[in-house]
Amino acid sequence: MKLGRLNHIGVATPSIADSIAHYRETMGATDIVAAFGLPEQGVKVCFVNTPTPTGMDGTQIELIEPYDESSPINGFLAKNPLGGQHHVCFEVEDIAAAREWFEGQGKRILGPTRIGAHGTPIFFLHPKDMQGILTEIMETPKGEGH
Ligand code: CO
Repeated sequence: MKLGRLNHIGVATPSIADSIAHYRETMGATDIVAAFGLPEQGVKVCFVNTPTPTGMDGTQIELIEPYDESSPINGFLAKNPLGGQHHVCFEVEDIAAAREWFEGQGKRILGPTRIGAHGTPIFFLHPKDMQGILTEIMETPKGEGH
């Protein structure tokens, strides 16, 4: 497996609206995508785009807010009431090959490969097997010229 682009940093927040205000007013972000719900993942999602000199897609901040009381990020927010860095996401060319690669090293994968917020297959790796970082692996979107 070859490591791809750092696609996004997942940031849990108790309020996407408040976080959008922070990224706009404090951080000077100008490109923020409208929030949307991903009920099957238990989160609402909003992407803050960061620019690149070449005009290619930059790394994103992925704001995630609980969708309801059963959201998998409620535990994280209970421990971190202000929110905070939740996961990092790297792209790979072939998600099935990547899954085999990590499984072959005995890394624990959390649940099945599923469709993530970018509409491409993703899976998560256990932070205790990944230097303390909840790590998302995502197949590079096809035809976006990354
Ligand atoms: Co993510």
